[in-house]
Amino acid sequence: MTGSAAAAMLAASSSESPPPVSRYFVKSFGCQMNVYDSERMGDVLAADGHAPADSAADADIVVLNTCHIREKAAEKLYSDIGRLRKPRADGSRPVIVAAGCVAQAEGAEIGRRAPAVDVIVGPLAYHRLPALLRAAQGARAMDTDMPASPKFDHLPARRHQGASAFLTVQEGCDKFCTFCVVPYTRGGEASRPAAALIAEAEALVAAGAVEITLIGQNVNAYAGGMSLAQLIERLAALPGLHRIRYTTSHPRDMGDDLIAAHAAIPKLMPYLHLPVQSGSSRILKAMNRAHTRQSYLATLDRLRAVRADIALSGDFIVGFPGETEADFADTLSIVAEVGYAQAYSFKYSRRPGTPADTMADQVPEAVKEERLARLQAAITAGALAFNLASVGRRTQILLERPGRKPGQLIGKTPWLQSAVVEVPGARIGDLITVDIVAGHENSVEAVPVSPVQERAAA
Ligand code: SAH
Ligand code: SF4
Ligand code: F3S
Repeated sequence: MTGSAAAAMLAASSSESPPPVSRYFVKSFGCQMNVYDSERMGDVLAADGHAPADSAADADIVVLNTCHIREKAAEKLYSDIGRLRKPRADGSRPVIVAAGCVAQAEGAEIGRRAPAVDVIVGPLAYHRLPALLRAAQGARAMDTDMPASPKFDHLPARRHQGASAFLTVQEGCDKFCTFCVVPYTRGGEASRPAAALIAEAEALVAAGAVEITLIGQNVNAYAGGMSLAQLIERLAALPGLHRIRYTTSHPRDMGDDLIAAHAAIPKLMPYLHLPVQSGSSRILKAMNRAHTRQSYLATLDRLRAVRADIALSGDFIVGFPGETEADFADTLSIVAEVGYAQAYSFKYSRRPGTPADTMADQVPEAVKEERLARLQAAITAGALAFNLASVGRRTQILLERPGRKPGQLIGKTPWLQSAVVEVPGARIGDLITVDIVAGHENSVEAVPVSPVQERAAA
């Protein structure tokens, strides 16, 4: 389909008529892709003459950028709509936009279940938000088209401020893991041209970014005229850019050149999020992961051979259909064997339309709960061990936000640990040299080395 006229479907009139619009608020659920998209929807609305609001309560337009990955994530949309549709003290309510992966997956159902929603827009169509908002005056507008011409060609310049920025380089997934909705909500794998990415990165650096995280559902499948490793090499040449990260990678696409980049490019941070999902090759096969326990571990060996200090992170699903206690024991053992610096773990959630939803041997909820608790204990123990092992390291941290106590700041180490530090005179966005002096489950403590104190005091 082409053009917003063909794509925008006008549905039944919503009963309450929304107020004239001026201030927007975008609320983000889900993964980094949505964080990027939320920021870009803000850019689109700003370019259309709207101004940002501090909270949903102050906004005339509220965009809910939703996630469909697990049932609980998807249900958040409906509880938020329930709150937003209640009239405010002056009788008004905001224009409600349902965006993101729930909008893509069940747009028509949103219209039925939540008549207060004014605009439904998918993650590949939000560059058309201004037209949809105009079409929504008195009627619902919906656009869940997956246009051939990518949204990136139609987005305005970035307004991003701040030391750290996300940059979407690739979107979509062709892998079709049997549990996952992403290939349906984000479409097939598509890479942005390298030239556009280099230009966007230059603009981010000019606006103060010292760290860029390249993001994609399968970021290491990037193929925008060059490989991800080549793109990283190009970006590493930008003066002013000090740190490069990328996420999320698929084990199948960890090419030799990307592994070599971890040895050759100092600005590429020694951290890799490489989800394995399960330690059991039998379950990995049922998940259609296209890797085994052994091939995954072999990939990590190749990485560690060139970059011994690399910190690893992963995602795990417990209670996939057919998972036995022995399969789960394999997951616990891979956690111990890899020594993850951190990891995310989830109970398998049945997603309508995915192959695993109709598999036999669904695991009872109580078993999932119990396995999740054991896995999380193992992951936490691993994170503590990693943080304790880093005590004594001298390294740089990028200051990101104020800490809990007055005078405290929180920065990120190259290994993505949160480091709590007190540096009088330092500002958010500064890169400072510290010694790590203590390790906890979720953070480390650091002290600045003396030259920084002198500089900060000067
Ligand atoms: N593209 C990335 C991550 C996609 S979603 C990858 O392949 O690794 C992020 C994580 O959510 C996944 O790694 C997986 O652990 C989890 N996840 C996806 N679908 C799920 C489901 N149906 N139930 C529970 N967890 C799920
Ligand atoms: Fe989902 Fe698998 Fe694609 Fe990751 S690789 S987005 S888990 S289908
Ligand atoms: Fe969720 Fe969509 Fe990301 S389903 S995890 S927001 S790609």
